[in-house]
Amino acid sequence: MPGSAAIIGPMRFMRRTVALVTVGAFLGSGAAHAGPGWFEVQSLDGRGNNRAHPEWGAVGEAYLRVAPARYADGAGQPVAEPNARYVSSRIFADGGQNLLSDRQVSQWAQFMDHTFGLREDTNTDASIPWDNDAPPEHVRNDLGSIPMRRSGVVEGLTPYEQKNIVSSYLDGFAVYGGEQGRLAWLRDGAKLLLPKNMLPRRKVTTDVSRYTEAQLEALRAKGATVTVTGEKVEIGMLPFQPDLVDEVQIGPLLQSFGAQPENRNDEVVDEDTLRSIVFLIPGCQPRCLTAVVDVSALDVERGRDHGIAIYNDLRRAYGLTPQPSFRAISGETTESFPADPELTPGDEINDPDSLGHVSPGVRRTTTAARLKAIYGDLSGVDAIVGMMAEPRLPGSEFGELQHAIWKKQFEALRDGDRFFHANDPALRIIKARYGIDHRRTLGDVIAANTDVPCGDLAYNVFRTHPPVG
Ligand code: HEM
Repeated sequence: MPGSAAIIGPMRFMRRTVALVTVGAFLGSGAAHAGPGWFEVQSLDGRGNNRAHPEWGAVGEAYLRVAPARYADGAGQPVAEPNARYVSSRIFADGGQNLLSDRQVSQWAQFMDHTFGLREDTNTDASIPWDNDAPPEHVRNDLGSIPMRRSGVVEGLTPYEQKNIVSSYLDGFAVYGGEQGRLAWLRDGAKLLLPKNMLPRRKVTTDVSRYTEAQLEALRAKGATVTVTGEKVEIGMLPFQPDLVDEVQIGPLLQSFGAQPENRNDEVVDEDTLRSIVFLIPGCQPRCLTAVVDVSALDVERGRDHGIAIYNDLRRAYGLTPQPSFRAISGETTESFPADPELTPGDEINDPDSLGHVSPGVRRTTTAARLKAIYGDLSGVDAIVGMMAEPRLPGSEFGELQHAIWKKQFEALRDGDRFFHANDPALRIIKARYGIDHRRTLGDVIAANTDVPCGDLAYNVFRTHPPVG
């Protein structure tokens, strides 16, 4: 091991941890190559991870297709019906109720999934048509559509196969970047922390002594609500105010994530932050115009853009039996609309009251009835819609199909990556030589990178403390 510790320093051997450590300048973006004698350094772009198929999982390769492609023309034209906002407004609308969970997975999941999967945007318009006058539409969209563009594909393939622009491994891509130039930029001081790229939640509760009166005033001036009660302060941030991260401070921000329950993972999607995000179009003359983004509608339309198979074909591809009816999908007792004086007979699906709740968590109409009214039969059910409508398995945030997908994906991330931490002999050698154990909880990593000690964080930061309910 010729002089490696002197050149690189022991901390830099922790290649697979999420702690914000730097990597040696010898990391290349091409094929994996030999490190200083006793371990191999993986490439930045994933190339060479699989020795028999060096291109597998590399930046720019096609996503793996697990079920037959579904395109209107068999080649690359997305199916257009039913309109994705129409579906979203009848299945994903929350009807004013948010059901919560004490599993705190979404922030971490977002960080993880953007390290092993990210599509490429193109200039080809694929905007989703929008009708302001069609009930149950309740927000105004002056653009007349939800802006969307088609994803980039790998050249020369029919049917279209979409390109993954990050490597397909759990390799800290978001921390290290996929090529030398990006790594150099990330290593340039505090840029590694990327504070401006975070999506902070709305509320932080912490000790008021962290801030001066002038700092609290400055936060108020930027639109945050600041409520001081005794020795504590609660800071409410508007969504999408990442520029406040520095001022609020990363420690209390991460600590507060664990104190707020998340929305449950089900077919219901939060209205203001995800399903009807309203933006003012600059100008406001003669009146303010608005644009709306609906992430659920984008998900439906993106599935069609990528030619994702229909729900039952995807179930088959994951070894599950296809569902015979809409009520079998949702696990409900009926797929008919009730005889209810609040509903318009024969047009229940367009009646906003069909989404109302008769008791907490129970709607006036079943999801199965609305799915049937939208799709007619099972041959066109968008996979993501059917999948989200499935009842959650006991003790899980996932229904049957989601569970099967995530299980297979995470097994592949583990078994298909020879640098996965449990497969990587270098990490055992580092522990033996330097006494550095790469195994850390996320709580350890938060404590190591902030001024919040481990003891002030939840024992398991993936669960809300105190638990929901
Ligand atoms: C306020 C919170 C969030 C907002 C506003 C948001 C917004 C978006 C938008 C606009 C897209 C692009 C949709 C498209 O055009 O296809 C997207 C993609 C995506 N989001 Fe989120 N998202 C949020 C939270 C999350 C979370 C918590 C996760 C994971 C648990 C997540 C996972 C993903 C994934 C996997 C994609 C697809 C990435 C790709 O293949 O390119 N997002 N998100």
